[in-house]
Amino acid sequence: MGTTERRLLFEKVNAPIAEGERIAILGASGQGKSTLLRILSLLDVPDDGDILWKGTSYLDSDPRAWRMRMSYVAQQPVMLAGSVEDNLKTVHLLHRTPYDQKLALLLLAGMGLEGLDIHKRASDLSGGEKQRISLIRSMMLRPKVLLLDEVTASLDRTNARLVEQQLTEWSKQEGISLVWVTHDQEQARSFSTTTWFMGNQTLLERESTSLFFAHPNTELARQFILHPAPEADKENPCPSSH
Ligand SMILES: Nc1ncnc2c1ncn2[C@@H]1O[C@H](COP(=O)(O)OP(=O)(O)OP(=O)(O)O)[C@@H](O)[C@H]1O
Ligand SMILES: [Mg+2]
Repeated sequence: MGTTERRLLFEKVNAPIAEGERIAILGASGQGKSTLLRILSLLDVPDDGDILWKGTSYLDSDPRAWRMRMSYVAQQPVMLAGSVEDNLKTVHLLHRTPYDQKLALLLLAGMGLEGLDIHKRASDLSGGEKQRISLIRSMMLRPKVLLLDEVTASLDRTNARLVEQQLTEWSKQEGISLVWVTHDQEQARSFSTTTWFMGNQTLLERESTSLFFAHPNTELARQFILHPAPEADKENPCPSSH
């Protein structure tokens, strides 16, 4: 192959996700982390290769049913029309599943939103509030795998920790797998059982989280752990994200 050859993302990647596994995806910007999550939820189509759910190819599966099992939660949340409660209810109407208000209130409280008026217009919420509502909306559909794209990026540390604890508990309680892209290494160490490290625009390492941080196999991962990209000021999230 010549050097001008188009680069491929994730060549020869083989990565199983076990039931209840909590995976942190780490890697510098532009490595393909979001693209990987979007492919897993069939929002982007791979040029080659296959994705299997319990042995069945995505090509032989109904995309709607697939996304009910593997649900993508975007970094930039999209609110539906109406109130906060409408947002939580509408997805159940669409999927014809019962809406559990008790669970909604429990999850809201668990994520630091106990004081939020659920009759408030969703479009009036702050960026961090929208992010948590979008996450709760997905959790309530009870997918088997939650694909989380920097879902605490707009939150202060205290609320980010609450979300982290809630998701870990949810995963343990419901046997749900988490595949969570984060730039926060402390967060990755605390919630994940496994780390996928992306570098050179592919999946470079797949290792238990404790082993990954103690003994990274590649120089790229070693440098990444030593010199993480400067993070946004978590105590004072950027007002423009609200
Ligand atoms: N099908 C594709 N083939 C080749 N390159 C692609 C394809 N789809 C996306 N890309 C490119 O891959 C790169 C990775 O993008 P992506 O958004 O997945 O990165 P990321 O790791 O999530 O970065 P960030 O941390 O900034 O969110 C981008 O440069 C994007 O344009
Ligand atoms: Mg991304």
